[in-house]
Amino acid sequence: MNRKHLLRKRLGIIIGSVVMSLWFLIYFLMPQNEQLLSPGGSESCHSPMACAECHQPAAGTTRQQIQANIKHWLGQRKTGADLGTATIDNDDCLACHQSANEVHSTHRFMEPRFAEARAELGPHQCSSCHSEHSGKRVEVRGNFCYHCHDTLEIIDDPVVPSHAQLIQQQRYDTCLQCHDYHRNHLHQPPNKLTDALRLERIQAYLDGQAETPYGDKREPYLETRQPTP
Ligand code: HEC
Ligand code: HEC
Ligand code: HEC
Ligand code: HEC
Ligand code: HEC
Repeated sequence: MNRKHLLRKRLGIIIGSVVMSLWFLIYFLMPQNEQLLSPGGSESCHSPMACAECHQPAAGTTRQQIQANIKHWLGQRKTGADLGTATIDNDDCLACHQSANEVHSTHRFMEPRFAEARAELGPHQCSSCHSEHSGKRVEVRGNFCYHCHDTLEIIDDPVVPSHAQLIQQQRYDTCLQCHDYHRNHLHQPPNKLTDALRLERIQAYLDGQAETPYGDKREPYLETRQPTP
C-alpha cells in the first residue's frame, strides 16, 4: 500500500466516524427521542409535565437544520440553527406564568441603564435564575439585589434597621427575608428585621425543598396556565 492510498483510507475512517457521531447526535436530539436524554426532570417544579410543553420542535426539517449549521461553520451564514428542538426563551415561560403584579419584568431590563446588571446577572432572562432540570427552584443566590438597589434610600423609612443601613453594611441577604422578588404574593413585609423570615427557610424554598414562605398569590391572580392534559 503506498502512502497516498493509506492517507485516503485514514481520511475515510475519520469522515466515517464524524458522520456516525453526527448521526447519533441528531438522533438523540430529535423531539421524539429526547426522553432518552432526560437530564432527570423528576425533581423539577414541572414534573410530570410533558417535555413538549417547553421543548418545541425547531424550525425546518432535520436536513435544513444540518445544512444551516454546516454553512454557519463554513462562515457562509451569520447564525447556526437549532437542531431537533428549539431553544427555550422567556415567551415560552410567560405563556404559562403571567403576573399582573410583576415589578421585575424581564422586558424592562432591556433599558441601557441595566447593561451592567444584564452582563453580570441576566435579569432579562428567566433562565439566568431558573435553570430547569437542576432540581432547584431558583438557581441564583438570594443576595443579587445589589445589582440595582445599591443606592436605595427611602424617605421616612419604616424599617429597622433602615434600608440605607442594610445597604451600607451590604446585608443584601436580608432582602428576600422581607420581599418576594416577583412581588406577586400576599406577603406583607414586616418593619423589623427580627420579625423577618428566617434565612434557612428562604434557602430551603429556593432549593426546592420547602413550599413558598410568602403565602398565597395576590389579586388579580397570577395566571398560571395548567399544562395540556
Ligand atoms: C418547564 C419547561 C421544561 C420542561 C417541562 C422540560 N424542559 Fe428540558 N429544558 C428546559 C430549559 C429551559 C432547558 C435549558 C436549555 C434550553 O433552552 O433548551 C432545558 C434543557 C433540556 C436538555 C438539555 C440538557 C440540559 O440540562 O441543559 C434536555 C436533554 C432536556 N431539557 C430534556 C427534557 C426532557 C426529557 C423533558 C421531559 C421529561 C423536559 N426536558 C422537560 C425546559 C423544560
Ligand atoms: C405549560 C405551562 C408551563 C410552562 C410552559 C412553564 N411553567 Fe413553570 N409552572 C407551571 C405550573 C402549572 C407550575 C406549578 C404551579 C405553580 O407553582 O403555579 C409551575 C411552577 C414553576 C415554578 C415553581 C413555582 C413554585 O411556587 O413552586 C417555577 C420557578 C417555574 N414554574 C418557572 C418556569 C420557567 C422558568 C419556565 C420556562 C422555562 C416555565 N416555568 C414554564 C406551568 C408552566
Ligand atoms: C434575577 C433573578 C430572577 C429572574 C430573571 C426570574 N426570576 Fe423567578 N424567581 C426569582 C426568585 C429569587 C424567586 C423566589 C422569590 C419569589 O417567590 O418571588 C423566584 C420565584 C419564581 C416563581 C415562584 C413564585 C411564583 O410566582 O409562584 C416563578 C413561577 C418564577 N419565579 C418564574 C419566573 C419566570 C417565568 C421568569 C422569566 C419571565 C423569572 N421567574 C425570572 C428570581 C428570578
Ligand atoms: C436588574 C435590576 C433589579 C434587581 C436585580 C432587583 N431589582 Fe427590585 N426593582 C428594580 C426596578 C427597576 C424597580 C422598580 C422601581 C420603580 O418602578 O420605580 C424595582 C422595585 C423593587 C421594589 C418595589 C416594588 C413596589 O411594589 O413598588 C422592591 C420591594 C424590590 N424591587 C425589591 C428587590 C429585591 C428584594 C431584589 C433582590 C431579591 C431586587 N429588587 C432586585 C430593579 C431591580
Ligand atoms: C425587615 C424587613 C425588610 C428588609 C430586610 C428589607 N425591606 Fe425593603 N421594605 C420593607 C418595607 C416594610 C417596605 C415598605 C412597604 C412596602 O414596600 O410594602 C419596603 C420597601 C422597599 C422598597 C420600595 C421603596 C419605595 O420607594 O417604595 C424597595 C425597593 C425595597 N424595600 C428594597 C429592599 C432591598 C433591596 C432590601 C435589601 C437590602 C430590603 N428592601 C430589605 C421591608 C424590608
